[in-house]
Amino acid sequence: MARKAFIIGGTGQIGCAIAANLLENGWRVTASHRGHRAPPSELIERGLEVVTLDRQDSAAIASALGSGADALIDTVAFDETHARQLLEVETSVGTLLVISSASVYRDEAGRTLEESMQTGFPEFDELITERQATVDPGPGTYSTRKMALETTLQEQAGCPVTVLRPCAIHGPGSQHPREWWFVKRMLDGRDSIPLAYQGRSRFHTSSVRNIAELTRICLDNPGSRTLNIGDPDPPDVAAIGQAIARYMNYQGKFIRISDDDAYPPRVGTTPWSCPRPFLIDMAAASEIGYRPVATYEDSVLETCRWLSEVAKTAPWRELFPVLAGYPRDLFDYAAEDDFLNCNNNLTVSVRTQS
Ligand SMILES: NC(=O)c1ccc[n+]([C@@H]2O[C@H](COP(=O)([O-])OP(=O)(O)OC[C@H]3O[C@@H](n4cnc5c(N)ncnc54)[C@H](OP(=O)(O)O)[C@@H]3O)[C@@H](O)[C@H]2O)c1
Repeated sequence: MARKAFIIGGTGQIGCAIAANLLENGWRVTASHRGHRAPPSELIERGLEVVTLDRQDSAAIASALGSGADALIDTVAFDETHARQLLEVETSVGTLLVISSASVYRDEAGRTLEESMQTGFPEFDELITERQATVDPGPGTYSTRKMALETTLQEQAGCPVTVLRPCAIHGPGSQHPREWWFVKRMLDGRDSIPLAYQGRSRFHTSSVRNIAELTRICLDNPGSRTLNIGDPDPPDVAAIGQAIARYMNYQGKFIRISDDDAYPPRVGTTPWSCPRPFLIDMAAASEIGYRPVATYEDSVLETCRWLSEVAKTAPWRELFPVLAGYPRDLFDYAAEDDFLNCNNNLTVSVRTQS
């Protein structure tokens, strides 16, 4: 008989990718959500079942799980309270998998991604493994709450628990599509796009397709573990721009800004821009048999296609609330033009490659 998976937050970008992968591999899948966004019709046609609930309502989760599931996947667990909700239903499920974040890591000086504006960007000598120090669990920030979620489950669950730590997630259906930083400029006909740090920043990307594939491998091999999940050969910012330019048929230029090492930089600050690399190690996932199914360059085309269509339907700030909540103006074209006019001796322009 087909194994059964229940996804909390099953109609989001991660949930849809996991549902697609598991359906493809013979699972029965139920996606739960509050009903704000319709699940893709192709998933319904392939047998996805959908239930409406609010994850704050523990009784609704227990009721929707009914006689149970082989796997309970939670894409929207953020804190200890959510961990305790999952523990309440753990006897009905074979294994648990939750989405945490690579933002939990801290460097030797205690610097984190989340507090980088105050303390400076964290510095890691090597790829970040799952053994890297993390923030302490607690109620203080997004990352400390994620650690409280992780530790509560790991210390108290009776069933196997997998924790996945993605980095900069990308995929269709995102509420936080970083790619919009480039796509909007290209749609707006900007002929020059400045890139801070010469476009050399590398901030690990995580395709929803790779997250879904690692999820499947983990469910096939239940165990208690914490795993990074990032794309193979993560591109630098200039390569991200080139990949998007190819899809958008963009004929303009990228301007690599070479003088500005400040953090944050004055202009050209893409959502991936950072003065030092933030790259995660994927060896632990490989050891359990995971192999990536997508590169950034391949999978971003699907995201760009979706972005180009969805952007016609509503103002971007409504569509992408997380992106709209950034503490800076992502599209301050006047500042870019001023900077480029005054500093053209400090830049190197690069034509996009078709
Ligand atoms: N974006 C990144 O780069 C990044 C990086 C690291 C980790 N993460 C983690 O990724 C996760 C977000 O996943 P995602 O990108 O797939 O999110 P998403 O696209 O925004 O989807 C969220 C899903 O959860 C549902 N949902 C939201 N609140 C709910 C609630 N109270 N009860 C039931 N369902 C609810 C949404 O549907 P309804 O709105 O209809 O309920 C939707 O199905 C979070 O755990 C985040 O910490 C994100």
